[in-house]
This record gives sequence, structure tokens and C-alpha cells, in this order.
Amino acid sequence: MYSDLHLTEDRPVYIQVKDYLKRLMLKGGLQPNQKLPSTRELSTLMKVSRSTILLAYAELEEEGLIYALKGKGNYVSTLIESQQATAIHWQLDWTAEVSDYAIQAEQYDLMKHGSGAERGEISFTSIAPDEKLFDLQNVKRAFLDRMSLEGEVLLNYGYAQGYKPLMNYLMNYMENKGVDLTGKDILITNGFTEGFDLVLGALRKKSGKALCENPTHHTAIKNLKLHQFQLTGIDMEPDGLDLKQLEQELAESAYDLAYLVPSYHNPTGIVTSPAKRTEIIRLMNEYQVPIIEDGFNEELRYSGSHVSPLIASMGKGNGLVYLGSFSKVLFPGLRVGWIIADAALIDYLESMKRARSIHTSTLDQSLLYQYLSNGNFEKYLKRARTEYKRKYELAVHCLKRHLPMCQISGAGGLHLFVQFPPEVRTRELLAACKVKGVTFTPGDTFYLEPGQGLHTMRLGFSRVSDENIRKGIRIIGETVASMM
Ligand SMILES: Cc1ncc(COP(=O)(O)O)c(C=O)c1O
Repeated sequence: MYSDLHLTEDRPVYIQVKDYLKRLMLKGGLQPNQKLPSTRELSTLMKVSRSTILLAYAELEEEGLIYALKGKGNYVSTLIESQQATAIHWQLDWTAEVSDYAIQAEQYDLMKHGSGAERGEISFTSIAPDEKLFDLQNVKRAFLDRMSLEGEVLLNYGYAQGYKPLMNYLMNYMENKGVDLTGKDILITNGFTEGFDLVLGALRKKSGKALCENPTHHTAIKNLKLHQFQLTGIDMEPDGLDLKQLEQELAESAYDLAYLVPSYHNPTGIVTSPAKRTEIIRLMNEYQVPIIEDGFNEELRYSGSHVSPLIASMGKGNGLVYLGSFSKVLFPGLRVGWIIADAALIDYLESMKRARSIHTSTLDQSLLYQYLSNGNFEKYLKRARTEYKRKYELAVHCLKRHLPMCQISGAGGLHLFVQFPPEVRTRELLAACKVKGVTFTPGDTFYLEPGQGLHTMRLGFSRVSDENIRKGIRIIGETVASMM
């Protein structure tokens, strides 16, 4: 006893001594009214200073865990009851207690069941931003600026709808993209993902059916399924949805919503053409199917002409719910996204947000706001875009060289999509590449039905060095050649 205290560097030593003694008391190692060693003895046993023991004893006395008898020493309080002695060792099988929602969420969890990368591998699985590009100095300055202005307010509860200055900034940002905000409002969310979950939870199920691109963002498929939507996928063409198929589906069945990623779609990287955008809105209006637009990647354009979000083509119309996020463009660790939609819908979403999480961290929101309003965004974006564009071009060059038989898509964003000839099964290719230290995401992950996309892969390049882009794609190319 006592000599097994393991000190760490992250907390004051007297607190660690106090916690050690408290744990001993709670576990029954020290009994009520038992005399504690003198401060001198304990300091020798624990190899810490006597003043540290004095401080620890003072803290324990203040908490009522020990008492001092003048001239005799310190004793364990009678109030202490060993929790171990009275513990009721109640065992439940939690796997039998969880809901279908929890079971499905676990089954669809790619982080647990996907093709994750191991240390030292060349991994093309991530589509997160490259943290080496983050302008930490400006983030730190923004944090200090905002804290010194209103730190006390920021640390208290905030408002469910969001941090007002950020809401105003984002409304203006969306107006600059051509969005008519008449009759619309904003809600700040924990990224796209929470916003999507809120919207899906807010919509009444009439047909219980939803439309989406096929393939599409895996997290969106997961959330739609968790909300019990039956999904119909529409094939992707090089310029966006197959409109014939879309119109046929709309004519045949009623749908509650359509989830669409019109710019730098995940996983295909496709940007829907202006003509198709107009036609999609026309069709959805005709069949009265609300659109949920995911605008996560709009800023990461490397070539082609500027594209506006679908919501910018809606004028005062309110049939579209826009979900924005800075997770790719800025910092996904700040879980900040936003919803722009009809004010009546936002009103409900605000109450749902309050019921679920009260509000998005005001610290995150205000830090982001200060960073943006200090004028850092444009500078950062310029730098990030230049760097990603360079990597994008390098990856395209290497793919063309080492995988000439493949079709490549992706006009921006942080990934490319590769279609192999049908005889190449990318799950088998992945297994063979993994042995050689290279991983990627097999494209079937993003398709709605088993058996689809078996010869496709998504290649995330944002966090891979130039050298590893070259090496990794060369290895994939050599592996394919050896398999054919
Ligand atoms: C299609 C799509 N939308 C949105 C996001 C961003 O989600 P969040 O804002 O929750 O980080 C991602 C991230 O990978 C994505 O692929």
C-alpha cells in the first residue's frame, strides 16, 4: 500500500495523492476510524514532499473524508462506506437491451466495419482536409480575440438557433451565392450530419420513400435507413443524375424527399450540369418532392465554370432545404454546419435541436465566426485550393499513367472516383493492395444495393503526400496488371 502511487505529469501531485487515498477509502482498503500514516511516514512511502501530504490531507478533511484528532493524527471518517462492500453486482446483457436503431447504427458504422487504414500504410481512404494546411496561428488569434471580447458569455448557455453573429455571417455568405433569403431562416448545427438527422426527423412520412443519387455519401444512406426511409437510387451520368430514370421513378411512386449532392458529389466527384439542375428542380416541383441539398464541397472547385447551389435557382421558392458545412473547406473538428430553409421549418428544427442537444457549442461557433470575420477564410481557401488542386492533378496524372484502362471522375473536392473494367473486383484488388501497404475505399460502400459498384473505388488524396500518391497509385496499377 502507498508505495504503488504512480505519478503523472498532467495534474498537481497533491491532487493525485488525495485521489489515491480517496480511492483506497472507497474500495475498502482504508476502513472508517482507521488511522492514516503520519505526514512524515507517508511522504517517505510515497516519495513526495511532506508539504504535498499536508495539502492532500487538508483537501480530504475539507471533503469530510478524514478527521484530525489533536496530537494523535488523521483518521478515516466514519462517513466513508466502502462502495465495494455495499456494491450490488448487477449484470445486464446490454446487447439484448438495445433498440433496433442502435443495432442498425452499429452495423452501418464504417469506422468499425469499413476498410480502415493501419499505421504506415499509404491510405487513400480519408477525405478529411490536410491538417498541415491549417493556419493555426490565425485560429489561435481568433480564439483569443473572441474570448477577450466576451469570454464569460461564450462559456454560458447559448441559443438553440445559433450564435447570432455567425448566423448573420452565414446568411450573408449564402446571399453572396445568389440565395434569396425571403421567407427563409437559418439554424446552426453540429455539421452536415446533425442537420441531416434533424431534417429527416422533422419530416412526416407519407410514402416512407426517399430518392438519392446512386452511389452516394455513405453517412447519408446510413441516416436515411436509420430513419426507416426506403431508398430509390438514381444512376449517375458524367453530368449528374440520369433524368429519364428520375422522371420514371417520380411518375411511378410518391416520394417524401430527395437527397442530392449537386457539386463535387461524394463519391463520384461529379458536378451536375446547369441544364440538369434546372430540370431537377422543375421535376421535383412538378411531383412535389422536397429537395435536401448537401452543399458540403462547393468551394473546392479546380476547373470548369463557377456553379451555384440549387437553392440559388429557387428564388423565393421554399421547396428546398440547404445543408451547409465547413468540414472539408475549413475545420471538421469544429462541428459547425447550417441549415437554410423556409422559416416555418426552421422554427420546428430549432425546437428539435433544443430538445436534443440544446445548442451547438458556442465556443466552436464564436471561434469560427471570429476566424471568418478576421478575413482569414479567403486567404486560407486560396492556399488550400492551390494545394489540393496540385494533388488532384498529380493523382489524375498518375491514374492515367498506371491505370489507363479506367474511367476517372471528379472535378473538385478531396477525392476521385475510379471505374475499372468489370473483370476487376475492387474488394479483391484492395485485399491484394493491402498486403503491399496501400488502401482505398471500395466503391460498393456507396451504392444502395449489394452487387453494385463492385469494380469501382474512391481515392481520397487530400492527406497523402505527393510521393505516396505516386507510389500508392503505381502499386495499385501493378497489382491490377498482375490480377488481369
Ligand atoms: C457528401 C458529404 N456531405 C457532408 C459531409 C460533411 O459532414 P459533416 O459536416 O457532418 O462533417 C461529408 C463529409 O465527408 C460528405 O461527404
